[in-house]
Amino acid sequence: MVYQLVATKPSMEQFNKYHKQGLQCSFDPFAGDGSIPGGAQTYFKREGYMIIKNLYDPKKLYHTVPEERGQIHYWGKRVDEFNHIPEEDQVNGSLVRYMHPQYCKIHSKVRRILEDILGEELYNTYYHDRFCFAGQRLQRHCDRYDGDACEISVSIQCSTNTKNPWPFCIQTPSGEKRSCELEDGWGILYNGTVPGETDHWREPLESCYTRKRDKLKNWITRKEDDTYYHQISFHYVRVNGSKAHCANNMVHSI
Ligand SMILES: [Fe+2]
Repeated sequence: MVYQLVATKPSMEQFNKYHKQGLQCSFDPFAGDGSIPGGAQTYFKREGYMIIKNLYDPKKLYHTVPEERGQIHYWGKRVDEFNHIPEEDQVNGSLVRYMHPQYCKIHSKVRRILEDILGEELYNTYYHDRFCFAGQRLQRHCDRYDGDACEISVSIQCSTNTKNPWPFCIQTPSGEKRSCELEDGWGILYNGTVPGETDHWREPLESCYTRKRDKLKNWITRKEDDTYYHQISFHYVRVNGSKAHCANNMVHSI
């Protein structure tokens, strides 16, 4: 690794409006504002991201690992209304699904929570979920390739069978590189408006079979490595921002 990555355990504070689900947001204890959402908004403006604990019920985000690899583009409301493309360039060998019907209502439900956290209105643009497997990595990028529809994005961990967290790495506007660990149902909210400032990536996904005994057992039984990590990214634009024209934009380029 040629850069210094700071593993962050930011201070978290409960958002009382969502105390039933145990929702907490990052804030800066030295900024003198520990109230949520105000303190979280200050943190987000300065750091370009925030961690949100218990953002959404992981049971509702859960989906078994599909057989397909590549890209699936859903064009209707039914789960059999899709086009499948076997190639996927951003994370080779993974499966990315655009606009899966299971998450259509959740896109709006998460938006309403984010509006409360950010204190401003948002429009839905689009979403995609991704299944990654052992050894795969997400190259450093910003969401520019998605055009203007990613002004505000949140990546939520749906489920995984990895033993250790798979950190979401992000560069802050001041140039610090942070590694953020999530759990099922937790999200990382990041600001996609300033290219280069909130670049993000993931290092290669570690297999859940790290012990020699497990590797040997798999080799003998010819069991394939079934390590996986499932996450979903919901994208939004600000109602009062310069990208508002992207509202409900489901068109995306890769
Ligand atoms: Fe991204």
